[in-house]
Amino acid sequence: MHAPPPDAPILFFDSGLGGLTVLGPTRALLPTAPIVYAADYAGLPYGRKSNEELAARVPALLGRLVERYQPRLAVIACNTASTIALSHVRAALDLPIVGTVPAIKPAAEITRSGVIGVLGTEATVRQPYVDDLSARFADGKTVLRQGSPELVTAAEAKLHGEAVDPAVVARAIAGLRDQPGGDAMDVVVLACTHFPLLQDELQAAIGPDIRLIDGAAGIARRIAHLTAGQRWPAEVSPGVAVFTRSEDHAPPPLAALAPYGIGRIETI
Ligand code: DGL
Repeated sequence: MHAPPPDAPILFFDSGLGGLTVLGPTRALLPTAPIVYAADYAGLPYGRKSNEELAARVPALLGRLVERYQPRLAVIACNTASTIALSHVRAALDLPIVGTVPAIKPAAEITRSGVIGVLGTEATVRQPYVDDLSARFADGKTVLRQGSPELVTAAEAKLHGEAVDPAVVARAIAGLRDQPGGDAMDVVVLACTHFPLLQDELQAAIGPDIRLIDGAAGIARRIAHLTAGQRWPAEVSPGVAVFTRSEDHAPPPLAALAPYGIGRIETI
């Protein structure tokens, strides 16, 4: 591949605003990287879609976005889309694609009790990909899984300026803790990029003794590694957030995206 021009952006892709939790640490490493943040609001929530639907939808939409924005690299900042569609996207598109997979490996390295919780969307937690990660990296440990669509809605609402209902957070945690072995759980993997948006609420509800971990910092390092040696603009320029048009979800206020370096909202 030719060296990309300095203004070629990094494209972040999610069903909604969860991918901002991957964008944040990436900007810390690559502060002048031009950013396009794409949210498929017409498809939100992905966690309730079938594998077949996502395996078709995600590569098609990413193809349109790549054509439009000519990114140097695309990040599927969504566990649901990555665990289902990553290989399809890589087969369809000719640029580096970084995926997001549940951080089961680092969780297995730090658990002392041997009981790990995985909190994701319903679609993510049922994927064979999660079985594979558990078998490869958490052999002999107990991996409890819980799908929580309510937390996705709560994270979206939070960035739209709404209060988070503590009962929603409590229900998601109880869904893990009430499973056999759940009392001993000492690490919870936030296996949906929306959930670190609720980090404070989740930590307050689960208590200080349980570690919450996600893969965002590792993904940011991977992006920096894959783009090492490439040229970037000298100055920081405001990023663009692009939303697929939806009757059910309106884009958030720009002020909610500004801390992530976004200066403009488009709909397609
Ligand atoms: N942010 C997404 C994930 O990481 C999906 C949320 C959803 O659309 O259900 O799984």
